[in-house]
Amino acid sequence: MRYNQLGNTGLYVSSICLGTMTFGGQGLWKMVGNLEQPSATKLIGRALEAGVNFLDTADVYSEGRSEQMVGQAFKDLGLKRSDIVLATKCYGRVGRGVNDIGASRGHILDAVERSLERLKTNYIDLYQIHANDPITPVEETMSALDDLVRRGLVRYAAVSNWQAWKIVKANEFARHRGLARLETLQAYYSIAGRDLEREIAPMLADQKMGLLVWSPLAGGLLSGKFSAGSTGPEGARRTQFDFPPVDKDRAFRCIAAMREVAAAHAVSVARVALAWVLAKPFVTSVIIGAKTEEQLNDNLAAGELELTQDEITRLDDVSTLPAEYPGWMLARQSSERVPGPR
Ligand SMILES: NC(=O)c1ccc[n+]([C@@H]2O[C@H](COP(=O)([O-])OP(=O)(O)OC[C@H]3O[C@@H](n4cnc5c(N)ncnc54)[C@H](OP(=O)(O)O)[C@@H]3O)[C@@H](O)[C@H]2O)c1
Repeated sequence: MRYNQLGNTGLYVSSICLGTMTFGGQGLWKMVGNLEQPSATKLIGRALEAGVNFLDTADVYSEGRSEQMVGQAFKDLGLKRSDIVLATKCYGRVGRGVNDIGASRGHILDAVERSLERLKTNYIDLYQIHANDPITPVEETMSALDDLVRRGLVRYAAVSNWQAWKIVKANEFARHRGLARLETLQAYYSIAGRDLEREIAPMLADQKMGLLVWSPLAGGLLSGKFSAGSTGPEGARRTQFDFPPVDKDRAFRCIAAMREVAAAHAVSVARVALAWVLAKPFVTSVIIGAKTEEQLNDNLAAGELELTQDEITRLDDVSTLPAEYPGWMLARQSSERVPGPR
């Protein structure tokens, strides 16, 4: 297992993080997975055995059950808290009240207490605001996160699904005030969805922030079990929940190319899709999802799959995004401005 620095911190996390969205099967989350405690504990144990030290959950997953099950698994496995880097999130609706949602000071302070209880721990390593709140001023959110860090409830602050401009605005505010800054962004990225390479990846490099990738298989679509024109295997999440949105023509072109690479290495298409993401230098950790131990083992093994430069180039070419303004103009106008000696 490779370990990468988490953003601009002294903490190292495994390049594969275990996602726990398949735990619990509560409410609408049943569509994603419905693992019960014994299976969830087994998956966590197996991931740790393979060198994973990083787990991701959220207060909304299975209406709190995912967090509860992660906390219980820690107890069942007798884990030392400091051996795990634990990430969770707040923002999504957790009650009927008008303030039971969002990134306001009040909701963040309430949500963190409830997460700590469910997780049976007294601190969270990485606390992520799950989504962009168009209402709460970013200054309010950042100062609430800083309070949690100062109180020792949270070690590092982070966000998920935020725009590049808003992250820079948040970090500039934190820098001027000497507050905790955002260390990572959790965002969707896969061979079939490379949109964040346009604005977000350069922003992360500028901010010395880490990228945690969610849905690297586009919800299972890129695992190799789907073919163009077919609905996919019964029970697979993607057959009933078409998320994240993907340009299907491009995705199936990628899958066709990945099938050839997979055959050359005698591995699954899922492993190739994950290895391609893992090979990107701006990726800190890839959050894998699994409903079975077999899927988990397959995905963990992606960490050992070395794609050749030719294979990466081929997969890059087949998945290239169409040129978009200002990207095509930036490329034209900066051709003579390459860093290095003159
Ligand atoms: N921040 C956010 O907004 C956000 C959003 C989504 C997810 N996340 C995080 O990211 C994690 C991973 O997301 P995800 O579950 O969508 O990831 P994903 O890797 O895109 O999809 C995982 C699903 O694909 C299928 N699968 C996985 N490995 C497979 C294999 N080797 N062979 C065949 N099928 C396989 C399984 O579903 P089926 O068997 O049903 O096909 C599995 O549940 C979550 O647990 C969560 O922690 C965050």
